[in-house]
Amino acid sequence: MKKSIVLLPGDGIGPEVTRAAATVLREAGHEFHHQFEFEEFPIGGAAIDAAGAPLPNATLDACRKADAIFLGAVGGPKWDALPVGKRPESGLLALRQGLGLFVNVRPVKLLEPLRLISPLKPERLGDLDLEIVRELAGGMYFGERGTTHEKGIERAFDTESYSTPEIERVANFAYARAEGRSRRVCSVDKANVLVSSQLWRRTVVARSAAYPDIRLEHMYVDNAAMQLTLRPSQFDVMLTTNMFGDILSDAAAALVGSIGLIPSASFGSSAPLFEPIHGSAPSLAGTDSANPIGSILSATMMLRDAFGLNLEAEWVEQSLHRVLSGGYRTTDIAGPGGRTVAGSVFTEMLREEMQRTLEHAERYGWGV
Ligand code: NAD
Ligand code: IPM
Ligand code: MN
Repeated sequence: MKKSIVLLPGDGIGPEVTRAAATVLREAGHEFHHQFEFEEFPIGGAAIDAAGAPLPNATLDACRKADAIFLGAVGGPKWDALPVGKRPESGLLALRQGLGLFVNVRPVKLLEPLRLISPLKPERLGDLDLEIVRELAGGMYFGERGTTHEKGIERAFDTESYSTPEIERVANFAYARAEGRSRRVCSVDKANVLVSSQLWRRTVVARSAAYPDIRLEHMYVDNAAMQLTLRPSQFDVMLTTNMFGDILSDAAAALVGSIGLIPSASFGSSAPLFEPIHGSAPSLAGTDSANPIGSILSATMMLRDAFGLNLEAEWVEQSLHRVLSGGYRTTDIAGPGGRTVAGSVFTEMLREEMQRTLEHAERYGWGV
């Protein structure tokens, strides 16, 4: 298989976690005889410094031509004083928009060797395995915004707005995703207060008629945040808006131990984009202590969801489980009995374990 992959390392810990993802993808290409070609482009603060804009045309053009895109993270204190629209984060939003990416899947799955580092008691944690399907191209992120000055009073506004087609396409995606899982969708909104949420709920219900085997329920976002913390294993697919999805996914990440563990995949009208859900973690940048797992699992999502390479993805994931079972941890997921290692050391241990998995495929019951 021949694929062109664009790497967008970005800022802070972005470059180091991108290296981890690229290592895994290179190994998969090498061992399974795929021709993966990598090209790197600047985005975010790095692009502001190098090219004067958070999403240079050359970066967007390269992404449009690629088969898949990987992004590390953007943002950092150096660029925090810039206005909205000129910040590193607006490069990422412009990329999502420029590629027509309207849905973002964020799987939050307990990694069994990490059960004891969860802030939840094991009996509350259950078999946490859910997917947040986050609308990515609309809502408050892209609604009308501005500032006014009247009678000496300054006002600023961002508008939450959704159209029926915008809701339909993300609902269809969530239903299709649930069909490959436990066939349950929980749609999260604030329909007791917001008219945009009332349209959301009505549209989600209308689309459900095409998916008779899916069990649909609705939850207000405040209750959803509470239920997520209280009993997260009740959820299968959680369908929600851009803003609610951003917030709920960070909360869900905490339940499995660290935001550094959670991958994501975005789909739309062109090449899919894969990125860990965490940010640039400025205080960790340059210390080689960032957790690379969210990034590595974003790479396995690329293998599985962009290229259909299930066997290769499983190979990486099984090997990852064994490294974690051996007690190796980055600082954020350190726990009793574990051994703390640097991010790059963790990735190297994974690479070696992937080799062992191939050598002992039969013993591990893998790929045979
Ligand atoms: P953040 O995700 O960068 O960090 C939140 C907390 O999680 C910090 O304590 C950080 O040290 C920790 N953390 C994050 N990733 C980690 C990892 N891989 N391993 C271990 N610990 C990790 O969020 P923030 O502090 O709110 O934002 C920092 C910057 O990142 C801001 O400029 C923000 O806009 C940007 N941001 C970018 C993205 C993205 O590029 N997708 C996402 C979120 C935030
Ligand atoms: C994320 C981030 C982004 C978002 C920011 C950096 C634009 O928080 O991917 O979760 O809000 O979507
Ligand atoms: Mn976020």
